[in-house]
Amino acid sequence: MLTLLKLLKDGRFHSGQALGAALGISRSAVWKQLQHLEADLGLSVHKVRGKGYQLAKPLLLLDVAQICANGLCEWPVHVFDSIDSTNAEALRSIERGVQAPFLVLAERQIAGRGRRGRKWVSPFADNLYHSLVLRIDGGMRQIEGLSLVVGLAVMHALRDMGIAEAALKWPNDVLVGDKKIAGILLELVGDPADVCHVVLGVGINVNMRSTDEVDQQWTSMSLESGRDFDRNELVARLGAKLQQYLALHHEAGFAAIQSEWERFHLWQGRAVSLIAGVNRIDGVVMGIDHQGALRLKVDGVEKTFSGGELSLRLRDDS
Ligand code: BTN
Repeated sequence: MLTLLKLLKDGRFHSGQALGAALGISRSAVWKQLQHLEADLGLSVHKVRGKGYQLAKPLLLLDVAQICANGLCEWPVHVFDSIDSTNAEALRSIERGVQAPFLVLAERQIAGRGRRGRKWVSPFADNLYHSLVLRIDGGMRQIEGLSLVVGLAVMHALRDMGIAEAALKWPNDVLVGDKKIAGILLELVGDPADVCHVVLGVGINVNMRSTDEVDQQWTSMSLESGRDFDRNELVARLGAKLQQYLALHHEAGFAAIQSEWERFHLWQGRAVSLIAGVNRIDGVVMGIDHQGALRLKVDGVEKTFSGGELSLRLRDDS
């Protein structure tokens, strides 16, 4: 089915006969595969008598050679047409002994993972599903604030590509205004005090223009700019930003990044509720500490909070 898609991706008309000949299958088998393309991948195919078949819009698929041509050649890149989750595949690869660093990308995820057990909506060829695997052997300091560092790198990559309003929400959401454009999920295996591997999972809404599956306010690069983006260029730009910020974090720790992160924090000084499972703490955001923990003023007293299961909401009186 995906071989057929690769023949159609130029957005031109292709006759059933030519497609059948290229694939070594009958015209009716081509027809069946086209129906699957529409049903399984949510793609729209125009069918015109006498002309053949044409994708409603051309597809720019992920391509390792293009990613390297755009400047990111250092990391081995594994691209999947369809996978449960790039984070899950990254964890399986670590288990199999694949040497880090490496990058796992997919055109779609059928079980994309979000934070706090949520699903991450991952339609085919629209967005970026990106898991970078690093080996960490510098102890806990190399992990402190790491997800915030990744958020900062993602935000800068988006700004480089013209999404000038991209900004941060603690701990690691990237927003435009009050709408989410990217999310980050870190997963760790091994002993963080000794040697471990960390999977830096990044999902960016790139060319997605509509979905009724996302249960929070969202936007995408194309909705913000009115144009479509080449995801191969985005992977390379994100790679460059990750290399820059991960190196700084490695050399100087999170403290070297703290004040820059705060400058881009949308909710500095805002009245928020911190949600931890069924518990809720109301306070005012003061900033973050040198390890990336949230500093909140609660009933006049400063308190710090950290942990992957926490999330922030704006209060009505903020
Ligand atoms: C969030 O809830 O904000 C985090 C979303 C993280 C989604 C990305 S997409 C690539 C990687 N693979 C996954 O299954 N999840 C992360």
